Amino acid sequence: MKCKPTIRIDLDMSTTTLDPVERLLDAAENGITLIKNRDILHFSYMPDTIFHRDSEQELVTQSLMPILKQSRPSNLLVYGKPGTGKTLVVKKILSKIQNRVEKSKFPIKLIYVNSKEETTLYQLLVSFGRQLGLEEKQLPANGLSISEVFKRLLRTIDENHLNAVFVIDEIDYLADLVKKTGKDILYQLTRANERLKTGSLTFVGISNDLTFKERLDPRVLSTLGEEEIVFRTYSVEQIKKILEDRVGEAFIQNSVDSSAINLCSAMAGREHGDARRAIDLLRVAGEIAEREQKSSISEEHIRLASNKIEENKEVTALESFPLHEKLLIIAAMKSSELSTGEIYTIYKGLCKVVRQQELTQRRVTQMLSEIELSGIIYGRIVHQGIHGNTKKYKLTIPSDIVKDTFKNDLTFEDIL
Ligand SMILES: Nc1ncnc2c1ncn2[C@@H]1O[C@H](COP(=O)(O)OP(=O)(O)OP(=O)(O)O)[C@@H](O)[C@H]1O
Ligand SMILES: [Mg+2]
Repeated sequence: MKCKPTIRIDLDMSTTTLDPVERLLDAAENGITLIKNRDILHFSYMPDTIFHRDSEQELVTQSLMPILKQSRPSNLLVYGKPGTGKTLVVKKILSKIQNRVEKSKFPIKLIYVNSKEETTLYQLLVSFGRQLGLEEKQLPANGLSISEVFKRLLRTIDENHLNAVFVIDEIDYLADLVKKTGKDILYQLTRANERLKTGSLTFVGISNDLTFKERLDPRVLSTLGEEEIVFRTYSVEQIKKILEDRVGEAFIQNSVDSSAINLCSAMAGREHGDARRAIDLLRVAGEIAEREQKSSISEEHIRLASNKIEENKEVTALESFPLHEKLLIIAAMKSSELSTGEIYTIYKGLCKVVRQQELTQRRVTQMLSEIELSGIIYGRIVHQGIHGNTKKYKLTIPSDIVKDTFKNDLTFEDIL
């Protein structure tokens, strides 16, 4: 009888695992690592040294300094474009003042909230209350009126003779939350001091929305902006210095090419000197290079990272549109440039396929303008002689991104 030859495959599990998951995990364990501490690249990380912000640090400290002498500082507004170090500087100063307060046992409370992280005005005020030491029993997480919550905050400040500083980061979002309640709460907040008998309350607002001030009630602005400090944007050279310091802490030695740092600084410098953007670029580039198992991060990785970040932004924007806006984007994608009327005709066809009631042309015209604001489509006025003017739209991003983003939604299965 003929014997079947036995085929023996030697599997050394540590080096040649065939399972795709095990293979990736093996690579992560045994492969090249470039980032030695990822937390240092997170936007909330507080570096030991803050570069190029000496005068801003001095101004903010001077503004808050009266609190150490138990008197009330002026309200302060801190302004500047995104990634210019506002949150970093203010938080660092708060923690330094806090250290001294703890040593001296002054009745001082420094409190920080980010309005973007709170979904309602009530929540934001409760967050202040919790930091003032008010528990659920004294300040329930819901159920009271805003003015009652406010009264309880002030009472706590008064009863404990506190000198309190409320820092409201991204205060422009608070203005939006306030608008939803329709109350004059910002005005009440800023005038709170007048209602206090023994304690004091100071506001520090931080914003990167330079138009925010214009949208404020002038009465609110005059109290909130008793003092103002503007953070200028970083130059390419300044960003480079910030990056070099961060690279030294977060990456293993010699793992970032100097040309990559230069490119990264130049790209972030071009975009209004945003240090967060520069650090993000570097982190994503590091992740790409690690995935490719390269021994260092090159200019090419920075470019790839930039594309990836842009693409993510576009995908997030696309996903956040409601259904009919999505249908209009799909309609606009069908040809290189289409008039409002043409888009409307295509849109009506799409509505039939996906069994949706079509909206009026007037509403659609309005929606196209709204989508244009997001930058996903671009519209230009075309003069058509005696036929008047029409607006022609085209997609500004590759149609593949639209298809890839929408394809997970079964609604669009038959129209992409
Ligand atoms: N001068 C600096 N030195 C070191 N790191 C900095 C400096 N300025 C900013 N960064 C870093 O850049 C990132 C963005 O800074 P920050 O969050 O303070 O910006 P921001 O002005 O508050 O921006 P936004 O308006 O978008 O909130 C953070 O990771 C921060 O650590
Ligand atoms: Mg900030």
